[in-house]
Amino acid sequence: MTTHSLFPTLVYAARLRGAGTRRLNQRLLRECRQLELDDEAGRRWSAQNYPGGFTSYGSANRMHRLSPTFAELERQLDEHVRTFARELRYDLRGRKLEMTDCWVNIMSQRVAHGMHLHPLATISGTYYVQTPPGSPGLKFEDPRLDRFMAAPPRKARGRLDGPWVVLPVRTGQVLLFESWLRHEVPPHQGRAPRISISFNYSWF
Ligand code: NI
Repeated sequence: MTTHSLFPTLVYAARLRGAGTRRLNQRLLRECRQLELDDEAGRRWSAQNYPGGFTSYGSANRMHRLSPTFAELERQLDEHVRTFARELRYDLRGRKLEMTDCWVNIMSQRVAHGMHLHPLATISGTYYVQTPPGSPGLKFEDPRLDRFMAAPPRKARGRLDGPWVVLPVRTGQVLLFESWLRHEVPPHQGRAPRISISFNYSWF
């Protein structure tokens, strides 16, 4: 007898590699904080759409084109996206996965980011710049959830099981997932802000 496990959902987690990673993170941290001060349009957008926090999603959302520091992050992320694309067994047919959007998120205490996906992108992800104690992880939803008709609850086998799974996040870490996968950030419990950089890659 065989029970097959079909259609797995892949989420990639890694740390940025190589020399200079710590310095890069320090520069990113400085620029994220500076952006919050400078980006008035972003602060207005956040007041409407990201209460209590700051995101440049609605304003400075191509940071890899604006800042050499973010461009350096893009170069490093490109490598991870290539690896993940291989894991996903994508046949890219000579076309490339390229970063299209890249924005900053700063969560103060009690700020949350509700369940969503990233339309119009292929691979999405986040790089974690600062994760003080009390920082929530990234919570993923089983993509089959809307089809669980009349299904009894399941006994969880561990941390990576159940209709929602929270992956813990650490400074210097990158998470990648396919853009259709719904996810959210539960409320931030820490006193110091949780700072991250999110991005989309599309297939051109
Ligand atoms: Ni997201």
